[in-house]
Amino acid sequence: MKTQSAVWKYWAILATLLLPVSTLAAEDGKLKVGFMLPYSGTYAGLGHAITNGFKQHVDELGGKIAGRTVEYVTVDDESDPAKATENAGKLIKRDKVDVIVGTVHSGVALALTRVARETNTLLINPNAGADEITGSLCAPNIFRVSFSAWQPSYAMGNVMLERKHKNVVTLAWKYSFGEQSVAAFKEAFEKGGGKVVKEMTLPFPNTEFQPYLTEIAALKPDAVFVFFSGAGAVKFVKDYVAAGLKTSIPLYAPGFLTDGTLEAMGDAGAGLLTTLHYADGLENAKDKAFRTRYAITYKMQPDVFAVQGYDAAQLLAAGVGAVKGDLGKRADMVKAMETAKIDSPRGAFQLSKAHNPIQDIYLRKAEGRENKVIGVVSKALADPARGCKM
Ligand code: BEZ
Repeated sequence: MKTQSAVWKYWAILATLLLPVSTLAAEDGKLKVGFMLPYSGTYAGLGHAITNGFKQHVDELGGKIAGRTVEYVTVDDESDPAKATENAGKLIKRDKVDVIVGTVHSGVALALTRVARETNTLLINPNAGADEITGSLCAPNIFRVSFSAWQPSYAMGNVMLERKHKNVVTLAWKYSFGEQSVAAFKEAFEKGGGKVVKEMTLPFPNTEFQPYLTEIAALKPDAVFVFFSGAGAVKFVKDYVAAGLKTSIPLYAPGFLTDGTLEAMGDAGAGLLTTLHYADGLENAKDKAFRTRYAITYKMQPDVFAVQGYDAAQLLAAGVGAVKGDLGKRADMVKAMETAKIDSPRGAFQLSKAHNPIQDIYLRKAEGRENKVIGVVSKALADPARGCKM
C-alpha cells in the first residue's frame, strides 16, 4: 500500500507535468537555455565557440537575466538532420527549456525551426544560414543573429567581378547551405556578366577532395568559389595547396572557410580573400572588450561563431529584460527583440522584419592567424527574405 507521502509525491509530479513551461521556470527563478549545437564531428569547434560566446555575455550579466539565474541544458546534435526532430523534442518536452539556442548545420536547423514553429518555442539561431529560416519559415518566435546563406556569398559575387574574374568553378558540400551559398554567389556574379562554368558538390561531411581538384586543374577556370567550414575547411585548403592550385587558380569563399581554422591551416591559408560579417582588426570598442575577455577566459582568440553566440545572449537579454523576466509576456518580449539594437563586436546591428541581421559584409585577407579587415563590400546588407509572410 502506498504511504500518504508517496501519494503526495505522485500528485506533485503530475501537477508539475501539467504546468505550462513558462510558469515552471518563473516559479523557480531560473531561465533555462537549451543549447542544441554540434559538439562532435566537423562542426564541433563551431558549437563550442557559440557556447563560449553565449556564456561570456551571461557571465558579464552576473549569471542572471532580469533576476533569473541562467541554467544550461546541452544536446550534441552531431550536425545530423536525421536526429534533429528528436533532439529538439528532448529539450522542449523532457527539459522544458524556455528558449533553444541552435544550431550550426542548416539541415538540422530547418528541422529544429519547424519544431519550434509547431510548439511556439522561442528559438534563437546562432549560426545556420539556410535562407528559409528567415524566409518562408519566418515566424514571430524564430530569430537569427548570424546571417543568411545569401548575404556573404552575394557580396563575394561582386568582389570576384571587381577582380575581373570571368569563368568560375564552384565546389560545396551538398546540402541546403552549400547549395544556397553557390546560388547567391552565382546570382550576383552572373548578373554582372561572369559565368559559372561548372558547379560541383560532394556529400557532407565528405573530405575526399582529390577528384574535384583534378577536375578543377583540367578545367582551368579564372577562379574557384567554395563553401566549407570547420575541420573540413582545413583539409580542403591544405589539399588545394598540395595540388599546386593555390598559386595558379585563386580561391575565394564566404569567410566560414577561414574563421577559426587559420591556425590549423598554417601557411596554407595565407592570403585567402573571404567575405563575412566579422573580421579581425575592426577596432571598435565593443570588439576590443569582447576579445580581451574571451582570450582571458578561454585562452584563445574568438571567431565569428563566438561573436554570434555572444549576440544570441545579448538578444535574449534584450527580450527577457524588457518583460522583467516574465516570459508569459511573449508578445512584449518579441517586440523588444525585434527592435533591439545589438551592440555587437561585428558592429551594431538591428534585425530585419524577418528577424535576420541587417549588417555590413567585410572583405578580409588571411594574414598569420587573422582574417584582417580590408574594407566593407556591402553596407547594411539585408537578406531579401524571399517567401517571408510576417
Ligand atoms: C550552415 O550549415 O548553415 C553553416 C555551417 C557552417 C558554417 C556556416 C553555415
